[in-house]
Amino acid sequence: MGRRTAWVGTSWKMNKGPAEAVVAARALAELSIPPHVQPFVVPPFTSLKDVCSILRDKNILVGAQNMHWENEGAWTGEVSPPMVKECGAALVELGHSERRTYFGETDQTVNLKVLAALKYGLKPLICIGDTQEEYAFNVTNEVLARQVKIALHGVKAHEFENILLAYEPVWAIGEKGRPAEADFVQNCHEQVRQTLIELAGEETAERIPVLYGGSVNLENAPHYAALPDVDGVFVGRAAWPVAGFKAIIESI
Ligand code: G3P
Repeated sequence: MGRRTAWVGTSWKMNKGPAEAVVAARALAELSIPPHVQPFVVPPFTSLKDVCSILRDKNILVGAQNMHWENEGAWTGEVSPPMVKECGAALVELGHSERRTYFGETDQTVNLKVLAALKYGLKPLICIGDTQEEYAFNVTNEVLARQVKIALHGVKAHEFENILLAYEPVWAIGEKGRPAEADFVQNCHEQVRQTLIELAGEETAERIPVLYGGSVNLENAPHYAALPDVDGVFVGRAAWPVAGFKAIIESI
């Protein structure tokens, strides 16, 4: 890490409805954030506007967990980029493996959403990751390169500075996941950085934050965050209690 800001974020996934989210956001608003850390929180849609209002003047960015790429229309059940923007969100998470696995998200739809996010001034937080099978066949680097290249297809030179990436091995996420070895993570991030250099040039690529996610907890977070090509952590379960999020921020 070192040269870059340490990003520490959590997605609440399908947890914390409006009432619970307001309580959590008020607690987040009280945190004192070390200057080298950029925290963010990604609540579910029903809590997005309230959480954005509570954290408006705080140094904690708020994001949506997904969105459509069109700005309006007959898309039942979907939420558009201007709707996310109007709630006050600064970023939008795209391509999480749970959306790829269960809701038909593809590299191509992630790309459409990335371009839409940039158009509406939202930072895309693009999640990439290998499945257990891809890992076992040793094609992780190829998978990550493909996901990054397709997700960023058509992104203009000046837009790269708004991109965030999170490497989240599918086999590391959730209760059944196992945290990835630090050396493996560093190697993957180095490869992702190479792909970014190909796409955006060295100077810009160095500035794009690449986070690690997947069974991050208080014990392993500082080790991941200290790796040279890891710019922070994206946390699920361990950061759902605000005290857990706070402890991880303080550990970095
Ligand atoms: O978005 C973060 C997430 O996918 C990792 O979840 O619970 O394994 O930390 P978890």
